[in-house]
Amino acid sequence: MPYSLPKLELYRDIRLLLPWPSARSVVILLASLFIAYFLNLYRYFRLAVLSINDFPGGRTVFSVELILNRFFGSIPGVLLSADYSWTERYDPYEKARWDIHSTIAAWPRGSTSLWLADADAIKEVTSSRVRFPKPVDMYAVLKVFGPNIVGSEFDEWKKFRRITAPAFSERNNKYVWDATVRVMMNVFENSWGWRDEITVDHATELTLPIALSVLAVAGFGSPIDFIEEKDEAPLRPGHDMSFKQALHIVAKDIWIKLVLPEWAYGLYPRFRRMRKAFAEVELYMREMIYERRTLGKTEDRFDLFGLLLDGNDNPGVDENVTLTDDELLGNLFIFLLGGHEASAHTLCFTFAALALYQEEQEILYQQILKVLPSDKTPSYEDMHSLTQSMAVFNETLRMFSPVNVIPKYSAEDTILTASSANGDQMQIPVPKGTKLFIHTPGLHYNPRYWPEPETFKPGRFLGDWPRDAFMAYSAGSRGCMGRKFFETEGVAVLTLIVKYYKITVKDEPQFASETFGERKARIFNARNILTLTPNRVPLSFSRRR
Ligand code: HEM
Ligand SMILES: *[C@@H]1O[C@H](CO)[C@@H](O)[C@H](O)[C@H]1NC(C)=O
Ligand SMILES: *[C@@H]1O[C@H](CO)[C@@H](O)[C@H](O)[C@H]1NC(C)=O
Repeated sequence: MPYSLPKLELYRDIRLLLPWPSARSVVILLASLFIAYFLNLYRYFRLAVLSINDFPGGRTVFSVELILNRFFGSIPGVLLSADYSWTERYDPYEKARWDIHSTIAAWPRGSTSLWLADADAIKEVTSSRVRFPKPVDMYAVLKVFGPNIVGSEFDEWKKFRRITAPAFSERNNKYVWDATVRVMMNVFENSWGWRDEITVDHATELTLPIALSVLAVAGFGSPIDFIEEKDEAPLRPGHDMSFKQALHIVAKDIWIKLVLPEWAYGLYPRFRRMRKAFAEVELYMREMIYERRTLGKTEDRFDLFGLLLDGNDNPGVDENVTLTDDELLGNLFIFLLGGHEASAHTLCFTFAALALYQEEQEILYQQILKVLPSDKTPSYEDMHSLTQSMAVFNETLRMFSPVNVIPKYSAEDTILTASSANGDQMQIPVPKGTKLFIHTPGLHYNPRYWPEPETFKPGRFLGDWPRDAFMAYSAGSRGCMGRKFFETEGVAVLTLIVKYYKITVKDEPQFASETFGERKARIFNARNILTLTPNRVPLSFSRRR
């Protein structure tokens, strides 16, 4: 059988290269390790499922926390999409038939999370920082510039909170109001020239620069009144990107920094741009710190950052409570992100909602007319009378909470009580280490607290409303420090815009025949990037006469 000869020869060659007995044992060893590894993973997965009494929810191979889902989207049984927390809203709870649902992944081994849309369970979690601390490893994305208040716990957090707290004072809020009015008058006079009709292709073209300008003035005492849209404005010496541009890229592409090693940043134009933007933001922040330090203490340094630096440079009794430069950068970045991204996106969603719900805009307009009858500049004292503006923001934040998941974990073996729509209750064992996700879209679209959750109804905030079922700013000792800052800025922006301009959805021929439902779906379309981000909100602003 001559044709079998080459085969034999090949076999002999292999035998010469790899002595057969040892090759076989290597293969067998590897295979058994592999099998043992998977059996072990499976064992942990089963243990995790049993540890919470198989409480209903999603079961996947990979954990939802992994960045993988940025690339692959949702694969049933394998991976939940990065947008899971937003697109699914209350649905997983409806399926589970409880206002808590679980997700368990085989990898990392037996990773167990309980998602909460139950106001009582959430209240229990937010009211004890010791029993339910933050999983600081999940905040790596926010710590790229340095340690900071949002991504820390225990003594480190206390130190940051102590130094930053004085910056968020009533005095600062008034400063925010006045700064916002100045920024808006500048928009009307210089940028819009009081034209009768202004259209934007995406409202964030307007809200991002407004939020950044308010932050620049009220947050950093900058003399810049309105950061111009036009990118051809001269850059500061030593820079290749405007601050706005760099910040925008950082917010969009920050996750690249987490998944790729540094040497890979040079491989692809988008990565190179991200690397450049990071360097730019860092340089801008270092310049701010330097300038504020050399500027010295001025009389009216009520801006956020001035107060932060004052607190840091003059720590009072406890000399040890000062921030290193990295910690200063890290916290500065958090202010920038909170004050820029979350605020601008919320303003954008607010305009979108008012454009779609004209009758709500009219109610708001009538109250503004009543509170500010003449051409009088609105003052900080007027804010308390502008209840409808506040209700509009709360309703926007209910529907479009910028932070979709507020993660905590259980520091001990404990028990949480889940409720169902028909009032039943069930105890869930919560083993130490279980992740607890306060899930704002789940809570905010829970019909038990918010009837007709898909409808924009600011009026629901004017009577009695379920305070514990509103978690846009988190709550308890780890609640948002910038809430008043944002509310003040937001009410001033909204009041001035609606006083002078009527907001409508921009007419575009390709959408001429759409129904209200289609239009709403298009305008409200959003994605979870760093915070919830509107997709495209084309608007017209027409001058009221
Ligand atoms: C619409 C606007 C805003 C919303 C919805 C919002 C929401 C939140 C949420 C949900 C948290 C908790 C995050 C977590 O535990 O993971 C938080 C924390 C925080 N926010 Fe905001 N925020 C907003 C604006 C701002 C602004 C304008 C600032 C500052 C200028 C700010 C500063 C902070 C700080 C410092 C913390 C950390 C508090 C701590 O951990 O002790 N936020 N915010
Ligand atoms: C500051 O820290 C040093 C060493 O870490 C310690 O010896 C000193 O007592 C601390 N001072 C105060 C005021 O806490
Ligand atoms: C809006 O929500 C905040 C809590 O985040 C609350 O203090 C305030 O009273 C609410 N205002 C209105 C008018 O709904």
